[in-house]
Amino acid sequence: MFETTSPIDGSFLMNVSRAKAADVDAAVRSAASSAPSWGADGSARATVMRQIANEIRQQARALGTIETLDSGRAIADTAGASVVHSAGLFDYYAGLADKLHGSTVPMGREATALVEREPFGVIAAIAPWNYPLLNAATKIAPIIACGNTLVLKPAEQTPLVTLILARLMQQAGLPDGVVNIVTGFGAEAGAPLVAHPDVGKISFTGSSATGRHIAAEAGRSLKGVVLELGGKSPLVVFEDADLQRAARAAVFSTFMNAGQTCTSCARVLVAHDVLEQFEAHCRAEAASLRVGDPLDPETQIGPIVSVEQLERVRRLTAGVSGEQVAKKEYRPIGGGHFFPPTIVSRFPADSDFAREEIFGPVMAIRSFQSDEEAWSLANDTAYGLAGSVWTSSLHRAEQARRRLQCGIVWINCVHSLSAGTPVSGHKTSGLGIEYGLEAADQYMKVKTTVMMSGAWNSPFATRL
Ligand code: NAI
Ligand code: MG
Repeated sequence: MFETTSPIDGSFLMNVSRAKAADVDAAVRSAASSAPSWGADGSARATVMRQIANEIRQQARALGTIETLDSGRAIADTAGASVVHSAGLFDYYAGLADKLHGSTVPMGREATALVEREPFGVIAAIAPWNYPLLNAATKIAPIIACGNTLVLKPAEQTPLVTLILARLMQQAGLPDGVVNIVTGFGAEAGAPLVAHPDVGKISFTGSSATGRHIAAEAGRSLKGVVLELGGKSPLVVFEDADLQRAARAAVFSTFMNAGQTCTSCARVLVAHDVLEQFEAHCRAEAASLRVGDPLDPETQIGPIVSVEQLERVRRLTAGVSGEQVAKKEYRPIGGGHFFPPTIVSRFPADSDFAREEIFGPVMAIRSFQSDEEAWSLANDTAYGLAGSVWTSSLHRAEQARRRLQCGIVWINCVHSLSAGTPVSGHKTSGLGIEYGLEAADQYMKVKTTVMMSGAWNSPFATRL
């Protein structure tokens, strides 16, 4: 067993099973034995998945409370948006489960090709500690809709809500063995799962460093990988933007979930002429953010997930001087892993602070002099997950779409997504796709069958 603790006050929550290779093997065998029957009937899958969505909605309070205790994310989000989106994913992919038709390719008079898509069998999924319920749903829903079974390893920092979800799925009528949860650590449980010979494909969300490692391991056995990795996403504000709305977006994007969001656009680039005005809007907007006990429904920002992550945020911000915002509303709890929301306006361009994913409640503001400089700064990162652009010019909006090197471009909005909008990390932000029909495509193999009604003749018999 290992302990999971609460970042709210550092207290012990529960002992959780610490899976090792033998447990992973048992889970993969369980998934493999359920795969043929689960893969056989799409409408049965759709029925169960809709019921799972209902169970999630009905248990919003319980799911939210457990996630908040384990991860520190504010309960207004965990019992609210998180539950809505997680249930929505099961509904969306339930709608797909009984519509996975193939196609035919005509091949002249006497032959036809049938193109079918079939499940891989067992998929391995590895989830990060941020948004544990939503990330579990993001993996599970498309994978099982396509007729696969899976073994999911939640992160060691936040395993609990996934275990509750497993119970709800069972109550919804999900057959045993379709979804198998192994709790434990990356090296002990994640690595044998990635290496397991009966796993057909791997779906991972987490850091770029671990993503690279998993892709290399998958290369040895030639398994496909879907990787949703880190980001250092820009939020670009032109002088013709609605500055107040843009500031509200920057504040939300930076500070939601205490900055622990892969698509956070906390690298804020502002037109030089409106810099002061924009900063004033940000300060005003951030002043009233409530930071404290995430179990209080009024709280917007809770603690950082773990001591390690808190230390990482401290290390990355050590060299820069920032301004603490939300001073009056900053109410950390003793023993909790709190970091004050901070806005940084001056920092060296080549520092770790400027280059690395911070994953904490810290906004970095920098100005630009021309549109050209705005696009070049926005793209000046190894990552390419998302970008948000604020302008009232159609020309600039169009340029944003063409110029930004990232998988999601938000124009005059931020974090607006639905179950149907595909998200694909460019550059080192990932491989493959989450959400949308495109995500499901990755969890099916293509099989082409050519059938001939006439007599087949050997090409050897042909003479020039
Ligand atoms: P991580 O990428 O190491 O952990 C994510 C998951 O991978 C966890 O379930 C972990 O147990 C598992 N894992 C770790 N090593 C593994 C291995 N060798 N084989 C299989 N599975 C393995 O992330 P970590 O160390 O918790 O966070 C470090 C940094 O990564 C954060 O500060 C943040 O910058 C970034 N991160 C980004 C996320 C995103 O959504 N883009 C999510 C989590 C972390
Ligand atoms: Mg925890």
